[in-house]
Amino acid sequence: MTSKIASTPTRICCIGAGYVGGPTMAMIAKQCPDILVHVVDLNQSRIDQWNSSELPVYEPGLQEVVEEARGRNLTFSTDVEGAIRDANIIFIAVNTPTKAFGIGAGRAANLEFIEKCARKIAECSTGHKVVVEKSTLPVRTAEAVKRILKSAANGATFDVLSNPEFLAEGTAVQDLLQPDRVLIGGESAAAVEQLVAVYGRWIPRDKILTTNLWSSELSKLTANAFLAQRVSSINAISALCEATGADVDEVAKAIGTDSRIGPKFLKASVGFGGSCFQKDILNLVYLCEHFGLNEVAKYWEQVVVMNDYQKKRFSARIVRTMFHTVSDKKIAIWGFAFKKDTNDTRESAAIHICRDLLEERARLTIYDPRVPESQVRSELEGIFKDALGVVSERHKQLIRDHVTVVPDAYSAAENAHAIAVLTEWDEFKKLDMERVFQGMHRPAFLFDGRNIMDACRLSEMGFEVHSIGRPSYHGNA
Ligand code: UDX
Ligand code: ADP
Repeated sequence: MTSKIASTPTRICCIGAGYVGGPTMAMIAKQCPDILVHVVDLNQSRIDQWNSSELPVYEPGLQEVVEEARGRNLTFSTDVEGAIRDANIIFIAVNTPTKAFGIGAGRAANLEFIEKCARKIAECSTGHKVVVEKSTLPVRTAEAVKRILKSAANGATFDVLSNPEFLAEGTAVQDLLQPDRVLIGGESAAAVEQLVAVYGRWIPRDKILTTNLWSSELSKLTANAFLAQRVSSINAISALCEATGADVDEVAKAIGTDSRIGPKFLKASVGFGGSCFQKDILNLVYLCEHFGLNEVAKYWEQVVVMNDYQKKRFSARIVRTMFHTVSDKKIAIWGFAFKKDTNDTRESAAIHICRDLLEERARLTIYDPRVPESQVRSELEGIFKDALGVVSERHKQLIRDHVTVVPDAYSAAENAHAIAVLTEWDEFKKLDMERVFQGMHRPAFLFDGRNIMDACRLSEMGFEVHSIGRPSYHGNA
């Protein structure tokens, strides 16, 4: 495709107002007041939320960034066609979930939304536009996007770039403000330069890496696979620690001080969650299988297998420790989001732990500072869906009868037989645990899936504390 970069002022459109599109565009608009940024989505209620004081995405510091730019050079609307027409740079930031049906089900990415966007861009565009893949995609998706764009009816021409987003939820604003790097892959030097010029307004040039399209697409999958692999590696060691009496936090510290290994991403946990890790690894596995690289596929798949094992191990330990039955026992669930400082629950380990405990007929009282009740219930129904996407009446009833969502951690723990800490929210470390202990049944079990509670101090109070990869503390009371 030829490059005909317009010398007109930059106007950006972003299709998809989710966890990636919303914060990223808000930051571009904040840093570049002269660039008009229009974020569009088919979901009217999501757009309404972006235009309100209750943003659909909870991220520390995001409200301020949005409020600075909204109404000045940042617009949110459902006018997808108008936004495409007006823009010369179009970001695609729609969701690419794992396919739930058909060929590659459970592994490949569902590219339906990407394809729909590409077709819409082809239909509405005139002149020349730069199309930027922001969503995480399988390698060589740009090829498909390019082919669809070639069918544009009005003689429009396009350059396609890959610009994967590396922000982590909970720290999105900081990650966008000072990223480790920005990656831009593309064939047209002029188009790449046009996007470099946008990020170059606030990011040092030596942090903006440019590559070919395929390297950029593959780098995103690889980065997430490596990060998830670290978590699965330390979680695998946590199981060994529990068997041997070693302490996984001490092991993590000891190995993390080796500068070749480094200290980050070595926190043992109940299992990683989030919309990216599992999806991207499965995507990588599918890609490897497609190219006949079966050993490579199996190698990466093991990261997900280990994560599933970690979640199962945790719920099994709860049941085993509580005298092999949790039936009709009240278990407080502290935290439902997949990590702290986000309201996102996609693939959260909490969903799996709750499912396992519900199957054992436990009564769950769930508290999360940012996740609303409707979202908790919809995630729990989701995990009980069968292959056709149907939730049985029996499971619906189970959730209705056995799940209560409460507005604070104290009421969750009132009259409980056990507490399970599933998200590392800071507020859990500041609770009056004496008060919590007084309200609980004995033995007062605490299962710390994030190793954030002071197990030694809690056991002195009388709690029986079980953490990940650490010796258990039996209460003194
Ligand atoms: C990840 C990547 O970090 C980010 O670069 C990419 O753009 C999107 O995917 P995210 O999923 O938002 O970001 O959060 P991240 O901080 O990576 O955590 C993912 C999961 O791993 C969480 O459930 C977290 O609790 C868990 N985790 C992380 C651990 O259990 N231990 C750790 O040491 C680190
Ligand atoms: P991510 O975490 O990748 O940002 P989200 O699911 O949070 O994913 O956001 C993706 C957004 O993309 C959703 O709000 C969805 O409504 C929107 N979307 C999906 N397909 C289209 C489309 N064809 N046109 C406009 N918006 C779309």
